[in-house]
Amino acid sequence: METRAGGPGAFARFDLSRVPSPAFVVDEAAILRNLALLKDVGARGNARVLLALKAFSMWSLADVVGEYLDGVCASGLWEARLAREFYRGHLSTYSPAYKAGELPEILRLSDSVIFNTPAQITRFADLIAEARAAGETFDIGLRLNPEHSEAEVAKYDPCQFGSRLGFPVSQLRPEHLEGVDGLHLHALCEQGFEPLQRIWASLEPKIEGALTSLKWLNLGGGHHVTRADYDREGLGALLRGIGERHGIEVYIEPGEAIALDAGILVGEVLDTFENSLPIAITDISATCHMPDVIEAPYRPAMLGEADEGVTFRLGGPSCLAGDIIGDYRFAARPMPGTRIAFLDQAHYSMVKTTTFNGVPLPAIALWNSETDALRLVRQFDYPDFRDRLS
Ligand SMILES: Cc1ncc(COP(=O)(O)O)c(C=O)c1O
Repeated sequence: METRAGGPGAFARFDLSRVPSPAFVVDEAAILRNLALLKDVGARGNARVLLALKAFSMWSLADVVGEYLDGVCASGLWEARLAREFYRGHLSTYSPAYKAGELPEILRLSDSVIFNTPAQITRFADLIAEARAAGETFDIGLRLNPEHSEAEVAKYDPCQFGSRLGFPVSQLRPEHLEGVDGLHLHALCEQGFEPLQRIWASLEPKIEGALTSLKWLNLGGGHHVTRADYDREGLGALLRGIGERHGIEVYIEPGEAIALDAGILVGEVLDTFENSLPIAITDISATCHMPDVIEAPYRPAMLGEADEGVTFRLGGPSCLAGDIIGDYRFAARPMPGTRIAFLDQAHYSMVKTTTFNGVPLPAIALWNSETDALRLVRQFDYPDFRDRLS
């Protein structure tokens, strides 16, 4: 995959030695810019915009998120708890399957609980009825698989052959919607407006009959709304049109778009040597700190990479032979202690870190590129590693 990083932005002038290494540095001003764009889309589209916590759950910014967006969406019990502890507004929870032991709390915490199949709704009908009898109020949703592929990479395509995500729209019958308040779909990954338009054009004729009896439609995430080339006017018009035509409330739940180009991961070179090519070991681990580099895979953009010079293969301090970040040019051989940074690491990196090999977790810092204020929000230590083991 290609990195979608738009460039260094204000990070071009951030002094990397101001934070411990490794550290995520999130630019609050960039987050605010993204949030303002998303709020504007919500207003244009008369739609509700939720932050997908799975992408970016830096809860020290929860109040700021709450000032701009309508709420958050969670992937299960723990994100739902995080949502209620720190975030405000609407909470929508979707999981590919629920456990009986967790569902009552999820029903209590959430405003809408979205199921992956009608069978799960039927299986848990008693728990749903019990929660309502106890005074809990929540909507029930069903995730549909629109069976229309637009994502560029199969691994990130919820409509791939044999997908487990969402109930295939071709199987939908009126009886599946008994007790259902809304429909959900999520079929995009880092995409512009046109793929959404095509998905909707293929899906709308199949579900317009069903929509008349429903309260809402949630168009999921994967909308790269805050990217410079995104057609935000088009999205606003589509969302408004859907709401007006079908008399329903419309939601989107982007994650990445909230934190796009809003954070870097700072690290340092620990050692260099030659083995067929110049190698540098860094305190940033692909597998522990930026697992999507290996999983996607993709090559993250490096801040200030030289146009000419010597190319080093950068890799992490873990034992994994494949703990390689990529090959990067330096104007001159980097010395141990040289600071480096990778762009666009605020989303899907901070939420995915591990302590494999006892590799320390990056600190988390909040910088405001407009005021230059810097706050070290969180540092991790040995107990954070120890206490996840037994
Ligand atoms: C159901 C659902 N909603 C929202 C999102 C957020 O997507 P993104 O961060 O790409 O906007 C995802 C991402 O996988 C998802 O699975």
